[in-house]
Amino acid sequence: MPVATYLKEIDKDSSNLIKALQTVQKHEGFISDENLKELAEYFSMPPVEVEGVVSFYAQFKRSKPGQFIISVCDGTACHIKGSDLVKNWITEETGIESGETDDEGVFSVETVACLGCCSLAPVMAVNGKVHGNLSRKKVQKTLRQYREEAHND
Ligand code: FES
Repeated sequence: MPVATYLKEIDKDSSNLIKALQTVQKHEGFISDENLKELAEYFSMPPVEVEGVVSFYAQFKRSKPGQFIISVCDGTACHIKGSDLVKNWITEETGIESGETDDEGVFSVETVACLGCCSLAPVMAVNGKVHGNLSRKKVQKTLRQYREEAHND
């Protein structure tokens, strides 16, 4: 969808670029090359400048995320309870590491700070749904269910 559709409320002032990028990402899931070009036009800025802002902030994604985003908590409580193991188990199951998306576009993995449910450590969230007290078995079972769901869509 053309980005201008999302930007009706946003003035064409370059100080609004971050807000505009957040809005586009919220709708599209990432900032595509096409989005980036359109944003540059919208704010009358060189595309390279927009690209610079996008790459400066970790919150912006330049590639299409998977259908399910696995957020592994690496806050203090989860770290102590084995978040490194959780990351390994996720990699065993999906073949990808934090910051990557699998070839099928089913999973993306990211590492995040405290998810706010430390009593369930170690924790991961999948598309915002929290899964706690993780063991290798639980990670496998949970991710296999999501994969099945993706294939049934
Ligand atoms: S440290 Fe992981 S939920 Fe708080």
